[in-house]
Amino acid sequence: MQTFIKDLAKFKDQEVTLKGWVYNFRSSGSLYFLQLRDGTGFAQIVVSQNGVDQKSWQNCEQITQETSIVVMGQVSQHPKMPDVYEIQAKSIEIISVAAEYPISNKEHGPEFLLDNRHLWLRSTKQWAIQQVRNTVINATYDFFAQNNFIKIDSPILTPNACEGTTTLFEVPYFDMGKAYLSQSGQLYIEAAIFAHGRVFDFGPVFRAEKSKTRRHLTEFWMMDAEMAFVEHEENMKTQEALISYIASQVVEKNVKELAILERDIEALKKIKAPFGRITYTDAIKKLQALGSDIKDGDDLGADDETLLTQDSVTPIFVEKWPKIIKAFYMKRDPENENFVLGSDMIAPEGHGEVIGGSQREDDYDILLARIEKEGLNRADFEWYLDLRKYGSVPHSGFGYGLERLVGWMCGIHHVRETIPFPRLVNRLRP
Ligand code: 4AD
Ligand code: MG
Repeated sequence: MQTFIKDLAKFKDQEVTLKGWVYNFRSSGSLYFLQLRDGTGFAQIVVSQNGVDQKSWQNCEQITQETSIVVMGQVSQHPKMPDVYEIQAKSIEIISVAAEYPISNKEHGPEFLLDNRHLWLRSTKQWAIQQVRNTVINATYDFFAQNNFIKIDSPILTPNACEGTTTLFEVPYFDMGKAYLSQSGQLYIEAAIFAHGRVFDFGPVFRAEKSKTRRHLTEFWMMDAEMAFVEHEENMKTQEALISYIASQVVEKNVKELAILERDIEALKKIKAPFGRITYTDAIKKLQALGSDIKDGDDLGADDETLLTQDSVTPIFVEKWPKIIKAFYMKRDPENENFVLGSDMIAPEGHGEVIGGSQREDDYDILLARIEKEGLNRADFEWYLDLRKYGSVPHSGFGYGLERLVGWMCGIHHVRETIPFPRLVNRLRP
């Protein structure tokens, strides 16, 4: 039976069988030290020529980086590091001797590593990032299950834009002309709140943005949440509760991974509700005072986001945006027609916008006017307008970008490292 490295503490002084890959090794005379990883962790295997049969010793001599093996041996606690367990090998069996491995311990350039993403995923740091990503995903599901949300799956092939027509990927769609890859499931999950009250979706979305920044992917994972009878302020409260919960789960479950990533855990521990709030108008004034050349009416650039949060340990909500720079579905601010009840959550430490959200326009006529003003095809939105005809209610929602959130949790500034197989303007392989 296979034992997993993460469970070794339970098997102290017992005999176990481990299965995994050798990521490093050295030998000295009659000893081999094999560094083994099995997906759940990392352990050192000590093989002494006297402690194993002849075949096992010969097998050790064949081992290369990434060779897959089965080890049988006794678990012993490290004499100096009580959290670390080693295996005193009794036998070593080879599953497959690896050919010369292209990724070594020396430095490689990012393009080389991305070309070898299928192998790079095995590297310790990349392993840690995907483990954190998994915690973020599970924490998200937990949070929603505990707060009366159900998951609703939104379609990927759609007839219309959600986030503006300039970043749509087109796909030929039989004799119906073109379909578009979803930019966000939001509009569809809005329909579902009239059946289920509170819902979320989680899946890949697509943006044909020619942005070559460290925060943009052409395919990324979005979680959209939507709530009936919830207005702007409660929308932000839900977001800060979700993000605080996710951060606490990462701190609790990923101690080992955060150490590998050299992530400052104290910074993560400070991600606790309530988060700061500032209106767009005040944010512009503050940025100008801090020396930014941003003008009233501009969207916030990455540098502005960093500047705005430079003294903050929690994220900051920038709320009440000018309606002309935000999506058509955002509800106008009753206090000022030119603004909408939308908010962006800006993460500290230079990680930037991680969530976009808003109260939704629930008035049929105003929404229709917005759709027409934006030059969107009314026929594509009839179904969406229907939601304002049959039992319309105030409602709000938000969406996070998983890769940006994971990057922030890990302290990684390039989203391309936070998704297993990044899709960028200039990259479709592997
Ligand atoms: O701000 P966005 O465009 O909002 C929406 O799509 C809404 N429909 C969400 C909603 O209200 N349900 O995107 C949401 C988040 C951003 O805050 C950002 O974290 C991420 O998605 N994001 C990207 N991540 C990686 N690459 C890109 N090109 C991204 N564009 C947005
Ligand atoms: Mg946004």
